[in-house]
Amino acid sequence: MIRKLFIRSYGCQMNVYDAERMAELLAPLGFAATASPDDADIVILNTCHIREKAAEKVYSELGRLRAIKEARQGTGGELIIAVAGCVAQAEGAEIMRRQPAVDMVVGPQSYHRLPEMVARIVGTGKGGRTLLETDFDVERKFDELPRARGVRGPSAFLTIQEGCDRFCTFCVVPYTRGAEYSRPVGAVTGEARQLVAGGARELVLLGQNVNAYHGVADAGAPSWGLGRLIRHLAGIEGLARIRYTTSHPRDMDEELISAHRDIPQLMPFLHLPVQSGSDRILEAMNRRHRVGDYLRTVERLRSVRPDMALSSDFIVGFPGESDADFEATLALVRKVTFAQAYSFKYSPRPGTPAAIMERQLPDPIKEERLARLQDLITAQQREFNSKTVGRRLPVLLERRGRHSGQLAGRTPYMQAIHVEASEALVGSIVDVEISAAHAVSVTGTLAGADLGFVHACAGRPAPAPTPADRGEDVRIIA
Ligand code: 5AD
Ligand code: SF4
Repeated sequence: MIRKLFIRSYGCQMNVYDAERMAELLAPLGFAATASPDDADIVILNTCHIREKAAEKVYSELGRLRAIKEARQGTGGELIIAVAGCVAQAEGAEIMRRQPAVDMVVGPQSYHRLPEMVARIVGTGKGGRTLLETDFDVERKFDELPRARGVRGPSAFLTIQEGCDRFCTFCVVPYTRGAEYSRPVGAVTGEARQLVAGGARELVLLGQNVNAYHGVADAGAPSWGLGRLIRHLAGIEGLARIRYTTSHPRDMDEELISAHRDIPQLMPFLHLPVQSGSDRILEAMNRRHRVGDYLRTVERLRSVRPDMALSSDFIVGFPGESDADFEATLALVRKVTFAQAYSFKYSPRPGTPAAIMERQLPDPIKEERLARLQDLITAQQREFNSKTVGRRLPVLLERRGRHSGQLAGRTPYMQAIHVEASEALVGSIVDVEISAAHAVSVTGTLAGADLGFVHACAGRPAPAPTPADRGEDVRIIA
């Protein structure tokens, strides 16, 4: 019997990748994906704990699911509710206490146990027992998870590193995703080949601190850094684009920077969170670099790749942040100029050192600073987009656009772009004349296609809309 599975992912791209692995793990048990929780037999909420708002969303969503479950039970049916992701890891017991309708809580390092957990619960009516798995067993997880098959479209995520040892004082990631772990080069390469064979033209290498990657290539030999891994992956035939996220400024080494010079497949866009433009605040955040180091890294990147587009994350209102500290952040943004960036009000997270620091700032100050920073970033993004008008850029067409006859894709600089084009072109890289710039995207007209590939992929159906297309909260990790 075919059962239906609905997974809702919050937070970062790694959660999107994990959701795909979970779906692949449950397929052999007869579960197929469905588009709505209303007709699902099992719903998995794949949660994010990075800020309070993200974590709270889970409880309101669980309330809605509970109503569906109760209605179902009234007619003799069943709905299994599972909570996965970082909230599951951080507050599994709390979830079970606050929402007894939950059947399973499974942390990010225990996904390989999902089939067994689901098998234990399906059809049993659960008997009042909630299953909880939150062990840290990352190596086993990657050994046992199915390899990504890349059925979702031309751009595929590939987790190469998980966890973080940096312990920034605001961040929950070291607690929810655990100690840093790099997958071996062979496993990454095998999965990359499989994704490309399955139709991926772009790979986005994922990790909470992806440029700290140090994967084993040969037993006893020194491990490989990210730069070396990228050089190796660039040899995969049919792989046209490589990106990676998210990086820490301290781990931008020369090998990685020079890969941006030497590897044409490596896209000229980098998400490099700096968080603050004040040395005092960077120190309190335990970032272990100064503003000057960041600026020098940007300069190095732009010296090897002059068109390098940059993105960042910022936190405003960190404990003790003065007006002068905040002004220093604005000054840094003006100096670097970003193609895009994310900014957040500091959110105290239980168990992190910053949550108990003195001089927590009141919300109105955070609000005001956030608005000023976002105005500046928005203006820079508009300016960046405007500067590409009139240029001809290669665009990877990834899926149907919002309007019929339109496809959506990305320029090398990660700009979202919409183009009038036939659906047969999904998966190809085409030259596009950029005709107009908007706040967060550009539009353009088709200038020419790499016909060899178009021919090769004609007839492949366009992938389903991604969570980002549906306007869900999908963003970049710490
Ligand atoms: N409060 C606000 N923003 C945070 N981030 C991480 N932890 C917090 C927090 N406690 C932001 C950082 C990080 C991004 C993913 O989320 O900017 O880079
Ligand atoms: Fe959220 Fe961070 Fe966990 Fe990703 S790793 S799901 S951003 S808390």
